[in-house]
Amino acid sequence: MEFAISLLLIFAIVASSPAKALDPCDSTSSDSGLSVHHIYGKCSPFSPTRREPTWVNTVLDMATKDPQRVDFLYSISSKKTTAVPIGPGQQLLNIGNYVLRVKIGTPGQVMYMVLDTSSNDAWAPCSGCTGCSNTTFSPTASSTYGGSLECSVPECAQVSSLQCPTTGTGACTFNQSYGGSSFAATLVRDSLTLGPDIVGNYTFGCINTVSGASIPPQGLLGLGRGPMSLLSQTGALYSGIFSYCLPSFRSYYFSGSLKLGPIGQPKSIRTTPLLHSPHRSSLYYVNLTGISVGRVTVPIDPQYLAFDPVTGAGTVVDSGTVITRLVEPVYNATRDEFRKQVPGPFSSVGAFDTCFTPASEADTPLITLHLEGLDLKLPLENSLIHRSSGPQACLAMAATPNNVNSVLNVIASFQQQNLRVVFDSPNSKLGIARELCN
Ligand SMILES: *[C@@H]1O[C@H](CO)[C@@H](O)[C@H](O)[C@H]1NC(C)=O
Ligand SMILES: *[C@@H]1O[C@H](CO)[C@@H](O)[C@H](O)[C@H]1NC(C)=O
Ligand SMILES: *[C@@H]1O[C@H](CO)[C@@H](O)[C@H](O)[C@H]1NC(C)=O
Ligand SMILES: *[C@@H]1O[C@H](CO)[C@@H](O)[C@H](O)[C@H]1NC(C)=O
Ligand SMILES: *[C@@H]1O[C@H](CO)[C@@H](O)[C@H](O)[C@H]1NC(C)=O
Repeated sequence: MEFAISLLLIFAIVASSPAKALDPCDSTSSDSGLSVHHIYGKCSPFSPTRREPTWVNTVLDMATKDPQRVDFLYSISSKKTTAVPIGPGQQLLNIGNYVLRVKIGTPGQVMYMVLDTSSNDAWAPCSGCTGCSNTTFSPTASSTYGGSLECSVPECAQVSSLQCPTTGTGACTFNQSYGGSSFAATLVRDSLTLGPDIVGNYTFGCINTVSGASIPPQGLLGLGRGPMSLLSQTGALYSGIFSYCLPSFRSYYFSGSLKLGPIGQPKSIRTTPLLHSPHRSSLYYVNLTGISVGRVTVPIDPQYLAFDPVTGAGTVVDSGTVITRLVEPVYNATRDEFRKQVPGPFSSVGAFDTCFTPASEADTPLITLHLEGLDLKLPLENSLIHRSSGPQACLAMAATPNNVNSVLNVIASFQQQNLRVVFDSPNSKLGIARELCN
C-alpha cells in the first residue's frame, strides 16, 4: 500500500513538473551551481548525436566502456600533449573536456564555452569571423558592448602575443595558439552572465580569424590564477574562489557542477597548499610528495616531484588533461609496483601500458596520491578504465611524453571524477572531498 502511494506520488510529481525538470541538460544553474558538461556529452551542443544521428551507436559504445572510448581518450590526451610545449604565455596540454553554458552581452547570447583551469584568458568567436563555427557572438546585437580596447589599456599587456604598434595606439589585437591551431582576436568588453550572476565589463578576446580545427568552437573561459582570468576580473564577487565536481566519464548524459565564490563550498574539507610559479601564473601547482599502491609506498626519488618555480617542474591539477601524467621515472615506479600486486600478463591499449584481467575489484590495489597535508586515495573508477569487450581493465595513467614537458606531473580529469575540488587562490589552498557529481 505504502509502495503504491509513493509510486503515485512520484508519478504525480513527474506529471506535474514541466518536461524540463526531467532534462538533465536544462539545469543551467541551481543551488548546486552551474552545470558542467562533457564536451561530447548529451547536453553539449558538440555532442555527435546532435549532428549525425548515425553516431548514436558510437556514443552508446563510448558510454558503455567500449574500447573505442579508450582510444578516444588516448587520442584526445595524446595529440596535444606532444604538440604543445609549456612556456611562458603558452597553453598547457589544453583540451576542451568540459563546457559551460554562459551568456555574453545584453540580451544574453548563449555560448557553450570550454572550461579551462590552466588558462587565464577568455575568448569567443565573434560575428564576421573567418574560420569560426556558426555560433558566434554578435557585438552589434548587445546593448552593453563596450567596444574594442585600446592598446594603451593595462589589460592589453596581459594578453599573450601582443600585436600593438610601437606607438601604443589602436585596437588591442593579438594572436594566440591553442592545441595546434591559432586565432587572431581583438580585446573587447561586454557583460558575461554566469547562472544568476552578471559580470559587467568583462574583458575577453573577440576572435576574428581562426586557422586549424582545435579552437573550442564557442570559446574558452579561463579559470587560471593570472590577472586576466575570470577569478581576477570578478574580484569581490567570487573572492577568487571556485570549485568543480567533474562528472564520471561513464555518464555521458549527466553533468557536474561549477560553484563560483565562497558561498556553498564544503565547510570542512581537507586541503593542500597551492604553490605559485611566477613564470606559469595560470597553473594550480600542488605539492605531490609521494604515491602509494595499496599499502606499499612507491620508491620515488624526491627530485622528480620537487616544485621548481624557475623550470616549472612539479605537479599541477588540470581539468583539460584526460589521464594523469607522471614523469617517466615516477610513472614507471608506480606502474611496476602496481604490476606486482595484480595478475599478469600485461598488454597495452593506446596510452595505457598496463592492461590486465583483474582477479576481483576487491583485490585491485587503490592508488593514493600523497599531497602535502592531504592523502588523495583514488576510488577504483578513478584509476582503472574498463574495456567493455571482456573483463580487461587498464591502469588509467601514463608517463609524461618525454619532451620539453618531461618535468611536469599532471593530475588530470579522469582522476578527479566525482570529487569536489575547491580552488582557493587567495588562501593558497586546494581542497578535495568525495562527492557524487552526476
Ligand atoms: C553553418 O551555416 C550555414 C549557412 O546557414 C550552413 O549551410 C552550414 O551547414 C552550417 N554549418 C554548420 C557546421 O552548422
Ligand atoms: C595573426 O593572425 C592572422 C590571422 O590568422 C594572420 O594573418 C597573421 O599573420 C598573424 N600574425 C602573426 C604575427 O602571427
Ligand atoms: C562598464 O564601464 C563603463 C565605463 O567604464 C561604465 O559606465 C559602466 O557602468 C560599466 N558597466 C557595468 C555593467 O559595470
Ligand atoms: C612539499 O612538502 C614537503 C613535505 O612536507 C616539504 O618538505 C617541502 O618543503 C614542500 N615543498 C614545497 C615547495 O612547499
Ligand atoms: C620506463 O619504462 C619503459 C618501458 O615501459 C622504458 O622503455 C623506459 O626506459 C623506462 N624509463 C625509465 C626512466 O625507467
